[in-house]
Amino acid sequence: MNTTSTATPYGTLPPASPVAARKPISLPRLNELRERGEKITMLTAYDATFAAVADAAGIECILVGDSLGMVCQGLPSTVGVSLETMRYHTESVARGVQRVQGTAWIIGDLPFGTYQESREQALRSATVLMQAGAHMVKLEGGGWTTETVRFLVERGIPVCAHLGLTPQTVHALGGYRVQGRGDSAAKLRQEALALQDAGAAMLVLEMVPAALSAELTQELSRCHTIGIGAGKGTAGQVLVMHDMLGINLGKNPKFVRNFMTGQSSVLDAMNAYVRAVKDGSFPDNALHAW
Ligand code: KIV
Repeated sequence: MNTTSTATPYGTLPPASPVAARKPISLPRLNELRERGEKITMLTAYDATFAAVADAAGIECILVGDSLGMVCQGLPSTVGVSLETMRYHTESVARGVQRVQGTAWIIGDLPFGTYQESREQALRSATVLMQAGAHMVKLEGGGWTTETVRFLVERGIPVCAHLGLTPQTVHALGGYRVQGRGDSAAKLRQEALALQDAGAAMLVLEMVPAALSAELTQELSRCHTIGIGAGKGTAGQVLVMHDMLGINLGKNPKFVRNFMTGQSSVLDAMNAYVRAVKDGSFPDNALHAW
């Protein structure tokens, strides 16, 4: 463990911060973390400054999520986000990360309507985000995305899949509801395994029962599970930055913790998030009673 304080342009990190020991994140490095049982931290960021602070705080993966539609653009859902908007924010985040530490792994979210039509459409859209500075793209959905994932991975584009509550299909799901309960657990498991076989290196599990996501994490040895509202048994955790800073305009989901509480800077709040994920004190399975 780091025993000295670490100065960053945003303030001084406490001695226990994992930042000093950081190397640039890559897929082999994420595998190393998992092999030694260290949880992976992921946070959304949408602009250069917050991305640089997240990187300085030791967040391993920055997701330029299409949640920006809601938190930056004030849209009612992520459905209205365009590829050009994602390109703009991905480029901003990539610049911010490079300005300071340059270690975070950047994931660009493919927005609604930019990968559903064909594998070729997905490749064109993914190329835009990779050229804007993403190291990986994320797309939502189950079985029907498997061949798209394979197509992208075969062409050198790392892919993060996303199962459970998939916000782009909120209208089809009937709201922001828990997924994978009861009979639907078997389908979710089958889809997760198929996505791993197709080459997905990461899988976001959103609002699925903690027991199911813990089992999937054991079963998926080649794909890192990243939970949000999915309990503590996943290989890593992700939160929407505005939620964990307590500045969400809407209602925070009950599994979110406000990491700004008791902290005097955004850097400290993000560092507290990193530490809580690493030491297993976040999330709290009692708040995932689904
Ligand atoms: O867009 C986003 O922020 C996401 C996370 C909720 C995982 O997809």
